[in-house]
Amino acid sequence: MSVTVREKRLTPAAITALKGERPIVSLTAYTTPIAKLLDPHCDFLLVGDSLGMVLYGLPTTVGVTMEMMIAHGQAVMRGVSHACVIVDMPFGSYQESKEQAFRNAARIMKETGCDGIKLEGGEEMAETIRFLTTRGIPVLGHIGLMPQLVNATGGYRSLGRTDEEADKIRRDARAVSLAGAFAMVVEGTIEPVARELSDGNAAPTIGIGASPACDGQILVVDDMLGVFNDFKPRFVKHFAELAPQISKAVEDYASEVKARSFPGPEHTFQMKKQKI
Ligand code: KIV
Repeated sequence: MSVTVREKRLTPAAITALKGERPIVSLTAYTTPIAKLLDPHCDFLLVGDSLGMVLYGLPTTVGVTMEMMIAHGQAVMRGVSHACVIVDMPFGSYQESKEQAFRNAARIMKETGCDGIKLEGGEEMAETIRFLTTRGIPVLGHIGLMPQLVNATGGYRSLGRTDEEADKIRRDARAVSLAGAFAMVVEGTIEPVARELSDGNAAPTIGIGASPACDGQILVVDDMLGVFNDFKPRFVKHFAELAPQISKAVEDYASEVKARSFPGPEHTFQMKKQKI
């Protein structure tokens, strides 16, 4: 009988254990080839619902569906042998009740084979997070700026500059951590608040636009590669500039096709030479 040995990948518990040891490294991933490239360097990959904007050209993440998340979750899982993989729950798939959240989270985990899910929300989602984590679903929290709430909050801006906002983020972080999240994304807040959240909670903080005071960092991969240039928030660093390279490559291809210099003889199949 042949036994299939599951490759050794980092678990959500292993991500939690990195807190205080070294910064946690994470990026978003949506496809198999990119997941393969990121896998050796990242502790976890997030199949983020940012794919709505990055891959599908949607205006916000609100239009993203369960089917999109599952298809891209499956694609990323085919590309990893090291990193833990977390799939975002799309807007509307978990806010109605903890039972709805469990049903959809379980579906994502069964159909993709991923290691856990992410959902947005602080105090108001704590009961749901507790419900999932006590039933075998590792949860990555997401507090601070929550993109799925854009229609209610009216835009994307960093939070925590007023006492009221800072207090809300503190309460959210505490609630999410106590509910059993293995880590929490902290998006768009100021450094002193991020430091308090990191020092005061068991769950590691994974910052995006939330300063180096977090226990780890995450960026949208197309942003840091300089592919997705519709807008560049202050917190994004381009570690490469792929957009102009892609444009140049396609321009060269178009002119070679028009000049009939591509395909050349080395790209062309010929009849086999007959042996005489
Ligand atoms: O959807 C996403 O990509 C995210 C990250 C930006 C954290 O939530």
